Amino acid sequence: MKNLSTEIQKLKKEKKAIILAHNYQRPEVQEVADYIGDSIELSRKAMQEKTAEIIVFSAVDFMAESAAILNPTKKVLLPTLGARCPMAQMLTVDEIKRAKARYPKAPVVLYVNTLAEAKAECDVCCTSANAVEVINSLKADTVLFGPDRNLAQYVAEKTGKTIIPLPEYGFCPTHLLFQPEDVTLLKQKHPEAVVMVHPECSSEMRKVADFIGSTSKMCTYAKENPAKTFIVGTEEGLLHRLRKENPEKQFLTAYEGAVCPNMKLNTLDRIYTSLKEEKYPVKVPEAVAKKARKALERMFSVS
Ligand code: 13P
Ligand code: SF4
Repeated sequence: MKNLSTEIQKLKKEKKAIILAHNYQRPEVQEVADYIGDSIELSRKAMQEKTAEIIVFSAVDFMAESAAILNPTKKVLLPTLGARCPMAQMLTVDEIKRAKARYPKAPVVLYVNTLAEAKAECDVCCTSANAVEVINSLKADTVLFGPDRNLAQYVAEKTGKTIIPLPEYGFCPTHLLFQPEDVTLLKQKHPEAVVMVHPECSSEMRKVADFIGSTSKMCTYAKENPAKTFIVGTEEGLLHRLRKENPEKQFLTAYEGAVCPNMKLNTLDRIYTSLKEEKYPVKVPEAVAKKARKALERMFSVS
């Protein structure tokens, strides 16, 4: 029986390929990756990649699409066709057009967790790592924002601007699983623990958090904070990286079942097949890509 990790490393060399993996990927996938990060870091890395001919993007659809948009000369592969972010499906182009007609003066800011066609309709994109900076960079006091309702609320609190959510209730099914009661119980057992949560969590979860940030921002926070125990309110895949980077610290998930099934579709087997058979290539029609690229590049010019 072949050792899949070794075979993947061999194929990477043969095909001049790199693997970019999101922080939520399975531990064994993170181990074969060339780079692990949050959505902004992975987009930046894909955009700046010069030498590789193939980028295997081990994450979900919208992240691989952004890579293909930002670096159109590379072959970008999504190892699993079904790895789609449900939140990204919640915002349609029609809904954006209707909102634009209703609020013609309000700029449209879209979370990168959107499909390329939606990005093509917005003024600027953002991620959970830079949403506040992106909104603050706009002169307007009223902004259309989608699809995550929780991130919209968080940004409204931080910027004091009027944020109109698009759609009304866009959400991440995985982050919705976190409940503050679980944090209270964990804090009874670990009173010294520091609580970190992703801004896709509910406002109730944000209230019990010591730190709110993107997945990679949580990694930086955990490294720099002297605390020994952390309660983590995001998808459980991040725990692998947190534990690896901080072996002397303890990381507890705020909810045992917090798994993004879509992210977890990328197995070592599928990554091996993806490299070997060069599938599934991500293709974005140039007319859409051109407009979406503008919105992504504008985001990079802010942060
Ligand atoms: P990050 O950009 O924080 O990694 O978040 C991406 C995501 O999909 C969170 O659910
Ligand atoms: Fe989408 Fe939520 Fe999965 Fe992130 S964790 S990819 S937002 S479903």
